Amino acid sequence: MKILVTGGAGFIGGNFIHYMMKEHKNYEILCVDALTYAGNMETLAPVMENPKFKFIKADIADRPAIYQIFEEESLDIVVNFAAESHVDRSIEEPEIFLRTNVMGTQVMLDACRKYGIHRYHQVSTDEVYGDLPLDRPELFFIEETPIHTSSPYSASKASADLLVQAYHRTFKVPVTISRCSNNYGPYHFPEKLIPLMIANALNGKPLPVYGKGENVRDWLYVEDHCRAIDMIIHKGTIGEVYNIGGHNERTNLEVVKTIIRALGASEELITYVTDRAGHDLRYAINPTKIHRELGWLPTTTFDEGIKKTIKWYLDHKKWWENIISGEYQEYYDKMYGNK
Ligand code: NAD
Ligand code: TYD
Repeated sequence: MKILVTGGAGFIGGNFIHYMMKEHKNYEILCVDALTYAGNMETLAPVMENPKFKFIKADIADRPAIYQIFEEESLDIVVNFAAESHVDRSIEEPEIFLRTNVMGTQVMLDACRKYGIHRYHQVSTDEVYGDLPLDRPELFFIEETPIHTSSPYSASKASADLLVQAYHRTFKVPVTISRCSNNYGPYHFPEKLIPLMIANALNGKPLPVYGKGENVRDWLYVEDHCRAIDMIIHKGTIGEVYNIGGHNERTNLEVVKTIIRALGASEELITYVTDRAGHDLRYAINPTKIHRELGWLPTTTFDEGIKKTIKWYLDHKKWWENIISGEYQEYYDKMYGNK
């Protein structure tokens, strides 16, 4: 079995490669990644010497490069993680989100159609469903919830999902889609809420909470997400969408305070900053379908997962200190400088 993983030098793709190489020692894994600001070869360092692993630097929107890879490798499964993934960046510069997330997905689908594949899996997000109100805790996203996007990021991911479904219906490409809630865990790029707060708290820097910190996210430990994708690519029904999430809802303020407590930092570091434009209020997944059909349930509670994550950031300071000392600093100053 040979699996092409796109975006594997990023957070979830990197964790997925580590997970798959541990769980399926006889599989070959080919990682294709353009190494944007979010891609980091240090994330892949633990597998680089493994003869079952191969890395190719390529852009998923570069049709000739992608076709050449399909021509040369005989691939069984493609899992497409490659994307521009940060909502705040999509508000600053939407165009690259359309290029990678929409056009890149189309190139991948065309390649699957042209060269043949057993499965194309699209890693999508619960953000395609828009948001839920804060005062209706009984509401959850199900697979039939209409697509209703808020940010250029979620609009680009929703567009990609629609293309994937169109290629299944029209060209019979054997696809599956998963829509997951917010992930956290090792190798998470420090522009996102949890690693940013851990890094800032450790450095005694202000903890920038958007608005009042009331927005709710449904947190999933990244390994639980990887296991769900492993189940979907092997046992999921072609043409289907699977929601992935595990009833671990927290307000942003609760998350920040949990990190502060775990690190023994001061709550005085919390700084309320200008809210994100179009900020989604609440995401919450109903994972009944994947539980019923594939037997998946998350195994890591938020309390356990956040402890493991904080420990990982304490044990791997070099990984994230290298990132925040580089060009990322310019991004940080631009985004938070006058909030
Ligand atoms: P990430 O930003 O950490 O990593 C993205 C990776 O894709 C990077 O390695 C980057 O170099 C690569 N990449 C970007 N553009 C590329 C291109 N044109 N060609 C090839 N590679 C390219 O993102 P992540 O958080 O790991 O998210 C992975 C996927 O999961 C995305 O599709 C995202 O939409 C989805 N997702 C993420 C979350 C989350 O909480 N992080 C939740 C649900 C779904
Ligand atoms: P983020 O990690 O960017 O994920 P997403 O926007 O995909 O949910 O943000 C998670 C939540 O945290 C979101 O409600 C925005 C908020 N947030 C802050 O309050 N401060 C920050 O510095 C960041 C990056 C996010």
